[in-house]
Amino acid sequence: MKTKFIKAWIALLVIELGMAPCSAQQFLDTFKPGQAWLDDQDNAINAHGGGILYHQGVYYWYGEYKQGGTTLPSWATWECYRTDVVGISCYSSTDLLNWHYEGIVLAAEPTDSLHDLHPSQVVERPKVIYNESTGQFIMWMHIDSADYTKASCGVAVSVSPTGPFRYLGSFRPLGHMSRDQTLFVDDDGQAYQICSSDDNATLHIHPLSADYLTPTLTCIPIFERWYREAPAVFKYDGKYYLLTSGCSGWDPNKADMAVADSIQGPWTSLGNPCVGPNAEITFNAQSTFVLQVAGGPSKFVAMFDRWVKTDLPSSRYVWLPLTFSDGCPQIRWHDMWNLTDFR
Ligand code: DGJ
Repeated sequence: MKTKFIKAWIALLVIELGMAPCSAQQFLDTFKPGQAWLDDQDNAINAHGGGILYHQGVYYWYGEYKQGGTTLPSWATWECYRTDVVGISCYSSTDLLNWHYEGIVLAAEPTDSLHDLHPSQVVERPKVIYNESTGQFIMWMHIDSADYTKASCGVAVSVSPTGPFRYLGSFRPLGHMSRDQTLFVDDDGQAYQICSSDDNATLHIHPLSADYLTPTLTCIPIFERWYREAPAVFKYDGKYYLLTSGCSGWDPNKADMAVADSIQGPWTSLGNPCVGPNAEITFNAQSTFVLQVAGGPSKFVAMFDRWVKTDLPSSRYVWLPLTFSDGCPQIRWHDMWNLTDFR
């Protein structure tokens, strides 16, 4: 009885004084690209090289969970800085600003040194799509060895967006290398994996099987010998758009936007879509995904990673509105913005 009274009294005090109970977190109403971004438990969001799935009114953000020291292997002949694989994280949100950590939905396999998900390997750029006919959530990711010679993709499945995902294995699609990669589902339900192949010289577009688990027998090479990475595909007003970075390891470079009337191509480069300070180096960041905001047919958010190559876990996120100017996608720098701010 006494405890009940004390609890009620504290609740009243909280309301009266406008005090937040100690578990309440700050409610975010503005994107601040490149600045620290905390989840609803005040922990730094840890979902790098990520992508978003919108499912039944909720956004799910999947990414690389980077933790621990960043090292450059002693045998390295290039800047292949790495952290040990921990797994793929998932966050949920209904407003894209305030995120709840759902946990590691695909965990590393520390006991099997030959496993693709062993901490000593490379697991990057996870993307998740939902297959309406099988009711499964399908994750594709870049699977590599620490020296990036494995150049494969891995697939995992789950019956829930928040996992756990079951790892099915890795392969080279149709025998071709696959590194930086993304997924795209067209309006007719046909899904595609788009990846950097042939030692990153050429992008490959792979139409997927109806269950989204395997590539079909078609491979569409585009931008041969252009050396593009970090692909992100979206569709607007019947046209397909492809945002990519150049190829300079963890260091930033100039972005490119391409357009096509069909995902099969031909694809035409529209040049660098970035506008503002450091636009020539993609605002010191690298693309990972372009999200179509639910309920806003012309609202897109371009998502980038601002890598800190010598301390990868402290890498940050740069999310910016993507708008159309004279029919061309444009990504303009904003110190801060919100979803009503598409200009
Ligand atoms: C650039 C890629 O986009 C990243 O995902 C990562 O693989 C780095 N290269 C490694 O250097």
